[in-house]
Amino acid sequence: MIDLTLAQVAAVVGGQLVDVSAADADRIRVTGTVEFDSRAVTPGGLFLALPGARSDGHDHAAAAVAAGAVAVLAARPVGVPAIVVAPGNDVGAEADSGASVLEYDTDGSGAAVLHALARLAAAVAAELVAAGLTIVGVTGSSGKTSTKDLLAAVLTPLGEVVAPPGSFNNELGHPWTVLRATPDTDYLVLELSARHPGNIAALAAIAPPSIGVVLNVGTAHLGEFGSREAIAATKAELPQAVPASGVVILNADDPVVAAMADKTVARVVRVARSPAADVWASDVVLDEVARPRFVLHAGGAQRDVALAVHGDHQVSNALCAAAVALECGATLEQVTTALEGAGPVSRHRMAVHTRADGVTVVNDAYNANPDSMRAGLKALAWMAGADRAEGGRQRRSWAVLGEMAELGDDAIAEHDSIGRLAVRLDVSRLVVVGTGRSMSAMLHGAVMEGSWGSEAVMVPDAAAALALLRDELADGDVVLVKASNSVGLGELADALARGAEPAGGRS
Ligand SMILES: Nc1ncnc2c1ncn2[C@@H]1O[C@H](COP(=O)(O)OP(=O)(O)OP(=O)(O)O)[C@@H](O)[C@H]1O
Ligand SMILES: [Mg+2]
Repeated sequence: MIDLTLAQVAAVVGGQLVDVSAADADRIRVTGTVEFDSRAVTPGGLFLALPGARSDGHDHAAAAVAAGAVAVLAARPVGVPAIVVAPGNDVGAEADSGASVLEYDTDGSGAAVLHALARLAAAVAAELVAAGLTIVGVTGSSGKTSTKDLLAAVLTPLGEVVAPPGSFNNELGHPWTVLRATPDTDYLVLELSARHPGNIAALAAIAPPSIGVVLNVGTAHLGEFGSREAIAATKAELPQAVPASGVVILNADDPVVAAMADKTVARVVRVARSPAADVWASDVVLDEVARPRFVLHAGGAQRDVALAVHGDHQVSNALCAAAVALECGATLEQVTTALEGAGPVSRHRMAVHTRADGVTVVNDAYNANPDSMRAGLKALAWMAGADRAEGGRQRRSWAVLGEMAELGDDAIAEHDSIGRLAVRLDVSRLVVVGTGRSMSAMLHGAVMEGSWGSEAVMVPDAAAALALLRDELADGDVVLVKASNSVGLGELADALARGAEPAGGRS
């Protein structure tokens, strides 16, 4: 954040100062971060009162001020110094998209506060950009968080970087991240996600990126969008938002992304696994735990790179990160060193752990869509067979898969095709976790593709899957655990990796 007085914040967000004297409004400054969790507030901060699952942030206003917040951004007076924005004062696309991330916003107060947050973030971003901040925005159906983590690594040698923790990419997490930037920040890396057309344009309007990265267009959230074309059009809102003075980095291995070159006035830099691109990879090989090695080519030079993250799909993420860093003035040497030092950061994304008994657990349970399921299964198949080239043995492979959420009408077909792919990739044991229609379709797909007996089984929940695995895992097995993040499989994989019960009992 930049130092602003309460009066300045109120003016920017269009709010009323309540329980603050005029003199204090001009004297008291926000010097800390903006927080929506009162426990995260630090002295000088600003607290956002948002409705939540268990309680309303307005009820925590006093605690936030006691913790050091100088004021609360709220939808009604809260008995402590506040900047109050009125519900209903927030017409427009931003407010619509804001409401969608707040499940418990029954009276529009959350949308009003989010709208104010967007305005504040926009004002701060504009000032910081004018002073030299570079904003990098990343979108795509899969790999935004993974690429954001690689970007933070490759940009760090060039200056101070602010990037979101985890997957803060919506109308709350995105502006919250923007407001972590200070006049000392050189690079602000932002993840932009969408559930509806217009979401990415709205986020890009808050903090206009001068470098925009599009990774891929898949079928994540297909149920919400209705068609892959609608998803592509929404992702294209990022290249459309980059000005002529900026750069758009496109993963040209995805033809839908490559076609976005026509959608931007900015200069386009293509990355791919072929020499037709500006920044490209050749000679991609995976090690025994599916970490890619490849030759990175850019500007007529080349370097060998060995990534510390897992999965063939990380090559395109790494190419995008490399292209951004090169645009920002990094040398190929700096990029290579940074990529090689960048291990898994955000939780439950292809986190690979080999236990003392040689069982390897791949925890990829953060999220799942058809593309990331395919990527995960391919990595599993590779890891199971990787030793063969050296005359070693084929390892037994397990795919412990939960539901892929939000696929709408395609859910049955997509789950069926994942079941089939598991068999085609010769996965030894498929454990389908959950008994709904989609999971039945996954099991059915596997059986139709030729799986028989106990090769593909269905269990009701994560606890049953854990019990089965505890009984049957043998030395040297490799297990992929993957699902959309709501079904407890991430904790199951953590427990398997530790070889113990999950914290707080079975889940
Ligand atoms: N380029 C890629 N192509 C396909 N799958 C990928 C790619 N990069 C990462 N993945 C896989 O996709 C899943 C989600 O990764 P990540 O969290 O980086 O994506 P995201 O786009 O941030 O997702 P979200 O929309 O949930 O924020 C993980 O299983 C990861 O291994
Ligand atoms: Mg993410």
